[in-house]
Amino acid sequence: MSSTEVAGSGALDPLDEAGVNAAVENALAAFTQASSLEELKEARLAHVGDKSPLSLANRGIGALDKTQKAAAGKILGASRGRVAKALAARTEELEAEDAARILVEEAVDVTAAPRRRRAGARHPLSTLQERVSDIFVGMGWEIAEGPELESEWFNFDALNFKPDHPAREMQDTFFVEPPQAHLLLRTHTSPVQVRSMLERDLPIYVLCPGKVFRTDELDATHTPVFHQFEGLAIDKKLSMADLRGTLEHFARQMFGAEAQIRLRPNYFPFTEPSAELDIWHPGAKGGPQWIEWGGCGMVNPNVLRAAGIDPEEYSGFAFGMGIERTLMFRNEVGDMRDMIEGDVRFSEHFGMEI
Ligand code: DAH
Repeated sequence: MSSTEVAGSGALDPLDEAGVNAAVENALAAFTQASSLEELKEARLAHVGDKSPLSLANRGIGALDKTQKAAAGKILGASRGRVAKALAARTEELEAEDAARILVEEAVDVTAAPRRRRAGARHPLSTLQERVSDIFVGMGWEIAEGPELESEWFNFDALNFKPDHPAREMQDTFFVEPPQAHLLLRTHTSPVQVRSMLERDLPIYVLCPGKVFRTDELDATHTPVFHQFEGLAIDKKLSMADLRGTLEHFARQMFGAEAQIRLRPNYFPFTEPSAELDIWHPGAKGGPQWIEWGGCGMVNPNVLRAAGIDPEEYSGFAFGMGIERTLMFRNEVGDMRDMIEGDVRFSEHFGMEI
């Protein structure tokens, strides 16, 4: 009989001493044979469990008359005692074996040379983006976000791009199928300007950092996925002087107290007047020099109107820069591809502060 089989109920007479002894021997043999705690559990259920021959015989005592009861109780009591003792002993043995096995299996060689795990590093683009955000938060501005999958209306129309503006061409923009959905991967962070104007109460002072996409081939100075930050301020009586003052403060925080800025007239559909922003970078690699940094201007009244703001009452300024480009000339990164390869050694030498 295998250790899991159970004798039929009532098969063992409580007064059948030989039968009871045989059941005890069966139980002891099953315990000895069990080579793991798992097997021992099965043997226990079969030989000591409620439906085991010995338990059933024990229950049969109740039906006997008084004198028989005493005799049967003696036989079964002693037998069950032996079985319980053997079970306890085997349990202890197997537990000890188990503990010894685990000690061997989980042994740690404390003298072995440790394999160093590299700690990883923050990517300098993230660190720089946080630094820029901190400077504006320090001035009381808020951080705004918008979706990377954007509607053509926010990316172009609401920003006063005419339907035939060349930036809308397939060569520059990743449009998303189907064409009638008019969805695209945003080509700049400027759509967040319009979203902020629609979503927020006036006045508005927001900085919007994020990913942007253009159909550029990857080379030392271009990548199809890059990052920008966009600034937008809408308030009563804001002027070009406020824009200039804000950018100057920002430039000095980023490049040191001697940094200066210069605005050169330019054209963007969403600002009027618009300017190109140059920075006098005292620590530039080839010596102090003017470096083209981004675009800016006074928010075009058409853009204010598209967002439901009255240009007679409110005015605003905006600016936008590339984070990769800023990292390149600020921290002397010669090749943009180093920023996207994900080699931790590139990130490591920037440290936690940048
Ligand atoms: N969105 C422009 C670009 O990606 C940058 C820009 C220019 C942003 C002028 C502005 C701005 O907010 O006023 O090239």
